[in-house]
Amino acid sequence: MQCRQILKEAEVGTSLEISAWVTTRRKQKTFSFIELNDGSCLKGLQVIIDSNVDGYEENIAKANTGASVKIIGDVKASQGKEQRIELHATSFEIIGEAPEDYPLQKKRQSPEFLRDIAHLRGRTKVMGMSTRVRSAAAQAIHSFFKDNGFYYIHTPIITASDTEGAGEMFQVTTLDPNNLPRTDKGDIDYTEDFFGRKTFLTVSGQLSAETLASGLSRVYTFGPTFRAENSNTSRHASEFWMIEPEMAFADLQANADLSEKFLQTVIKEVMDTCQEDLEFCEQIITHKKFKSPFFTNDKSSLLSTLEQVVTTPFQRITYTEAIKLLNKSGKKFEHRTSWGDALQTEHERYLAEVLFKAPTIISDYPASFKSFYMYLNDDERTVRAMDVIVPRIGEIIGGSQREDRYDVLTERIKHHGLDEKDYWWYTDLRKYGSVPHSGFGLGFERLVMYLTGLSNIRDVISFPRTPKHADF
Ligand code: 4AD
Ligand code: MG
Repeated sequence: MQCRQILKEAEVGTSLEISAWVTTRRKQKTFSFIELNDGSCLKGLQVIIDSNVDGYEENIAKANTGASVKIIGDVKASQGKEQRIELHATSFEIIGEAPEDYPLQKKRQSPEFLRDIAHLRGRTKVMGMSTRVRSAAAQAIHSFFKDNGFYYIHTPIITASDTEGAGEMFQVTTLDPNNLPRTDKGDIDYTEDFFGRKTFLTVSGQLSAETLASGLSRVYTFGPTFRAENSNTSRHASEFWMIEPEMAFADLQANADLSEKFLQTVIKEVMDTCQEDLEFCEQIITHKKFKSPFFTNDKSSLLSTLEQVVTTPFQRITYTEAIKLLNKSGKKFEHRTSWGDALQTEHERYLAEVLFKAPTIISDYPASFKSFYMYLNDDERTVRAMDVIVPRIGEIIGGSQREDRYDVLTERIKHHGLDEKDYWWYTDLRKYGSVPHSGFGLGFERLVMYLTGLSNIRDVISFPRTPKHADF
C-alpha cells in the first residue's frame, strides 16, 4: 500500500505491506524505530521493528537514511500524538542499501545544494510537496477546461515561426557547425537543413491554437515552451510549461472573465486536494523566527491569500489608468512611468501587492511593446492585450484579443519587421470566416510558485533549464 493511503485509512488490527525509503532510524535496546516515506504524502509512516524479527541485526544495520526497504507488519494504534497509527513489522527486507555518503542526510540543505543533486532531491519534503502540488495543479487545469467545453490540443514544439516576435528562440538544426552549406552569396543554406528551412523550439503554441479555435471554437494547449532570453531571475526558466486556451467568438472582456474563473477554480481545487502540503508551506512561511531560503519572505498567510483570491473578484484596470495610479502613488520607482513605458515588475507588484492587494488584470497596453497579433484599438496606439498580475509573482498570465482583420494584421506583421510570407497560414485564417477570438497563456511554474509560496522557479520544476544549466 502507499504511505498516503495507509496513514489515512489503514485499520488497526489489519496487516499490510509497504515499500519505501528510510528517512530516519532510531535504535533502542530490543527494537528500532524507522520512519518510511514513499513520496505519496508529506508525512512518513512510523515502523517499529522488534529484534526478534527475522534478519533484524543484519538488516537494521543497513537501514540507513536513504535505503529502500520492504516491510510487512501489523497496524496498531500509535502511542505517540504525532500519528494515528504505526506499523509493527513482522517481516523486514532491505531492497537497496544507501551507504553513509548518501547526500540527503537529515540536516538542513540549501536550495542550491539540492539543485546540484536534482536526481535525489525528489525525496526531500520540499520537492515532494512541490511535485505533488504541480501534479494536482495540472490535473485541475485539465478538468477546468473539460468542464468548460475546451478541447485539449497538441501544438508543434519544432516551429518555423516566432510567435512573440521577440527573437528569443533556440534554433533546431542538424547542420554540422564545422561544415555549413553555403549559398552562392555565402549565407548558410538552410534548404540543406533537416526541414529544408530554419527552425526553432516554440516560444508559444498560440498561433497553432488559433487555427484550431477557428474550427473547434474552444481549445487549449498545455505544453513545454522555450525561451532563449538570458534573464537569470527567480521567475524565468528557459524551458517552462504554458497553458494556452483560445476561444472563438470572444472579445477581451470574455478573455479576462475566463482567466479569472480559471485561476479561481484551479486554485480552489488544488487547495482541496493538497491540504497537507499547503499547510506545510503555510507553517514554514508564517513561522515567526525561522526564515526558509526556499520560500517567500512575505510572512503573511499563504492560505488566506489563496482563499481570498478564490473568493474576491479580480481588479481590472487599463494600462493608461495604471500609469496614472503609479504617478499618483508618490512612490519613487527605479524605472520610468511615462505613458508608453513598459510596466516593470516593481510597478506590477506595487499595483497588485500594495494598492489593490489582489490579482489585477491590466488591459489595453501601448501597441509599441506588445506582439504583432494583438487587436489594434480604434485609438491606433493601444492593443487589446491583458496581463494578469498577482501579488508576490507579478505577471502570471499574458493574453489578448487577436487581430482578426486581414488588412490590419498584415500591416502589423510588416510594421514589426516580420516576414509576411512566414505567417501566410496565420493570415489566411483572417480570409475565411474570420471571427473575433481571444486567448491567454499561463506560465505553469509561476502558478505553482504562487500556490506554494516557493520563491524560485528552479524549485517548482524537477529539472530546471536556465542559462548555463542543463544537467540532469
Ligand atoms: O506573456 P507571454 O509571453 O504570452 C505568450 O506567450 C502568449 N502567446 C500567450 C497567449 O496569449 N496564448 O507568456 C505567457 C506567460 C507569462 O505570463 C508568464 O507567466 C509565463 O508565460 N512566462 C514564463 N514563465 C517562466 N519562464 C519564462 N521565461 C517565461 N516567460 C513567460
Ligand atoms: Mg507577457
